[in-house]
Amino acid sequence: PVKRITAPQIAARKAATPIVALTAYTAPMAALVDAHADVILVGDSLGMVVHGLPSTIGVTLEMMILHGQAVMRGSNRAMVVIDMPFGSYEESPAIAFRNAARVMAETGAGAVKLEGGARMAPTIRFLVDRGIPVMAHIGLTPQATNTMGGFKTQGRDPATWPAFVEDARAVADAGAFSIVVEGVMEALADQITDAVTVPTIGIGASARCDGQILVLDDMLGLSGRVPRFVRRFGDLGASADQAIAAYADAVRDRSFPAEAELYR
Ligand code: KIV
Ligand code: NA
Repeated sequence: PVKRITAPQIAARKAATPIVALTAYTAPMAALVDAHADVILVGDSLGMVVHGLPSTIGVTLEMMILHGQAVMRGSNRAMVVIDMPFGSYEESPAIAFRNAARVMAETGAGAVKLEGGARMAPTIRFLVDRGIPVMAHIGLTPQATNTMGGFKTQGRDPATWPAFVEDARAVADAGAFSIVVEGVMEALADQITDAVTVPTIGIGASARCDGQILVLDDMLGLSGRVPRFVRRFGDLGASADQAIAAYADAVRDRSFPAEAELYR
């Protein structure tokens, strides 16, 4: 069997060839991503993207495990990282370990990701010391949407930058093998990347990050309104719409099914 990319291998990619990361939530999409990416993130964005929730707040551990299992079945090369959902890790390092251990054991994934900077450092240390690789996530952290008052670009005021750089240092010192840097001013993302020896993976951050990540459905053109930082590399939404409309027409005018599609 093909060996998967490991957390230490990703950690070693600082200032090297950029790390290619994308989300996936299902087995067939994971197979498509696996052919090209280094990291597949089972993001809690699946709450909004797949389940139609208004935010990631309502995502459960069970949802993450179910989608994590599907993504593991559909891939065999990339490292699979699974988001810890809101409420499953913030309370204490012990509770975080218990839930992260379930995610690792029930999915077979290579790591978990959790949101938060300096305040989550003791938890990251606790998990890493006990065998669970952790990807950190700082800057715009969507699980904090209610305290932030929406999804807002972080670091617009340079006076706030030292705190973000401190967050990056704290999670790196705690043993995180990489850091997602989301929704920050480009110059702040560059400061963060220069401040730590582990790779940064940017989304709405900077081309100088050590890797990039996007939500798969967003970059494929399958979602509605997307933030400025999303480039639509495809237009699958439009092509799905065309195909569904053509099917509806063919059913209504009885041109489907045709002879070749029937058993006679
Ligand atoms: O949930 C998610 O998809 C994420 C990425 C956008 C980093 O956390
Ligand atoms: Na997430």
